[in-house]
Amino acid sequence: MTPDIIPLVAGNWKMNGARDQLDQLALMSQGLDDDLADAVDVVVCPPTTLLYVATTLSEDTPLQVGAQDCHNEQSGAHTGDISAEMIKDCLADYCIVGHSERRTDHGESDYHVAGKAQACWRAGLTAIICIGETEAEYDAGMAQAVLKRQILSSVPEGATEDDTIVAYEPVWAIGTGKTPSPEDIRDIHAFIRETLAEKLGGHGERMRILYGGSVKPANAAELMSILNVDGALVGGASLKAEDFLAICEIYRDM
Ligand code: PGA
Repeated sequence: MTPDIIPLVAGNWKMNGARDQLDQLALMSQGLDDDLADAVDVVVCPPTTLLYVATTLSEDTPLQVGAQDCHNEQSGAHTGDISAEMIKDCLADYCIVGHSERRTDHGESDYHVAGKAQACWRAGLTAIICIGETEAEYDAGMAQAVLKRQILSSVPEGATEDDTIVAYEPVWAIGTGKTPSPEDIRDIHAFIRETLAEKLGGHGERMRILYGGSVKPANAAELMSILNVDGALVGGASLKAEDFLAICEIYRDM
């Protein structure tokens, strides 16, 4: 945690969930009582097919909704793509950009990611910009150099704590059950904070930095108590309301 920063837990459903998965979303919104909603901001990012129904279901509850990717342009000849404006039109408020699965599966570069983040701002969405090193880069001691490059090139100038969140997800920790040691996470998040502050001044000091990669109820309390870890980006454990709420509830008890 960082003093004076309200933490945020975001669930990334990835390419999982048909309409019956909305039962879990309804349970999540019901489980967010006033105490919990005061302690932590909670966002679920379902697949685009469920986006509009998800925002409708969570209307008038503290549960917020986001998308998992957007195109950088507003409209046009881009078959299969979705613009930030379309996401906003579905009444969502957030969009993940630059997830490592998009960087790998779709060859998205830092440059693409920065364009998508700016598209989010243009549409009035908060961008959740993902960064993270691969296992080979980690083993070679290059994690900080990779993260610095990603921050300098994927987080556009002018980013503020109101329109941007940074999520650190070591690629080797995603969906593997492995996480870096708490000491490693502390050092890396301190480095990310320092780099954001150098780039963005006070905005970088106040920006939320999430940790992602195999966060689950069993390890969340330890991970979330680390300085400069201002919440979590949760994949697998966000599919079940019980697990996802258990992660959020850590903040009520802190
Ligand atoms: P995981 O995924 O929690 O299943 O490791 C995290 C993510 O990719 O956002």
